[in-house]
Amino acid sequence: MTVTGMLSAIERIGRDPKSGGYYRPVMSTAELDLRTWFIGEAEARGLDVDTDRNGIIWAWWGAPRAGSVVTGSHLDSVPGGGAFDGPLGVAAALAAVDVLREREVQPARSLAIAVFPEEEGSRFGLACLGSRLLTGKITADHARALTDREGDTLADVFARGGIDPRRIGRDDEALGRIGRFIELHIEQGRGLIDLNEPIAIASSVLGHGRWRVRVTGQGNHAGTTLMRDRSDPVVAAAAMVGAVSALTREVDDARATVGRFEPFPGGTNVIASAVDFWLDARHLDDATTRALVARIAAACEEIAAAHGCAVTVSEESWSPTVDFDAGVARELGAALPSAPLLGTGAGHDAGILSEFVPSGMLFTRNPSGISHSPEEHAEDADANHSAVALADALQGMLR
Ligand code: GLV
Ligand code: MN
Ligand code: MN
Repeated sequence: MTVTGMLSAIERIGRDPKSGGYYRPVMSTAELDLRTWFIGEAEARGLDVDTDRNGIIWAWWGAPRAGSVVTGSHLDSVPGGGAFDGPLGVAAALAAVDVLREREVQPARSLAIAVFPEEEGSRFGLACLGSRLLTGKITADHARALTDREGDTLADVFARGGIDPRRIGRDDEALGRIGRFIELHIEQGRGLIDLNEPIAIASSVLGHGRWRVRVTGQGNHAGTTLMRDRSDPVVAAAAMVGAVSALTREVDDARATVGRFEPFPGGTNVIASAVDFWLDARHLDDATTRALVARIAAACEEIAAAHGCAVTVSEESWSPTVDFDAGVARELGAALPSAPLLGTGAGHDAGILSEFVPSGMLFTRNPSGISHSPEEHAEDADANHSAVALADALQGMLR
């Protein structure tokens, strides 16, 4: 089946009919339905499917063994995300197996398609959770204690999804089987539009981190509390968000975002007692990101004091800048000679894995240049061509 045929088969799963955006948090009904869909597609191709103790699904063509070539992506999404971020790489991997078989390729190495859980970190706050667990970049205890917006722990949510939380954690056996990891992904910016090319080879991933900012003040009555008597954390936090944008604009090519802002308890006629908001900050130079976040934290302290509030800034995740393996990039370049090299500002499991195994990525053109939004797009021809490009790349590696 074509990539577009597979994406059509899952287009209703987790889609908000009003906005057209997808919400497929890890272990939600939508994400579990997508896992079932993937397992069905893999089994229909005669691949051997195994869900490991970290909830990563592996679909094997050939016996699981060291030196295998692994491709794949994720099926979870951000709130209000697009149809392609994750599923394109999974569908392209399945279709690439079809292409290789049509070409009667007899792989000398095993090939696996891997589906990683919670790549976006939209449920538990920590991006690339599956690959972090696999590689030990997060401890099992830390992961088990993470909570979602409802206050449910990862341990409970995984248990309900059929993954025994006592067994999660670094998995040297699974990691040791990956000889190379190649992730195909929708491009999440305008790079390929500007280059007028359908496919690029990734050069780097921008370093990025997430911080939780908690602002506390005095909860009170909206009608009886004079303006001069207030310690309103919403007003303080709003000024902090302004400072995030202003300070980040002063740093060349830095990016910072506040996309989640939660007053507590959240009533129209209630002066909030606390606000939580989350800061996402990125720059190619890790020290620059750190310095920017330190300046933002200092500004938050000043703003909190000026409003009679208190603030704490705590780091939830950190991913340094990744330069992908030059040897893998050369192999990809040999298979796809017209594909340009392109860096990305988005995070990926391939970025986490690259510290442990030779890894690389391919990007498919996104004509809207927009991502993490329903307007993310790939033309049918480009989506289907992705599978051929991925097959071209994998074929040489499977020799
Ligand atoms: C994931 O797409 C991220 O870059 O946060
Ligand atoms: Mn993604
Ligand atoms: Mn994403």
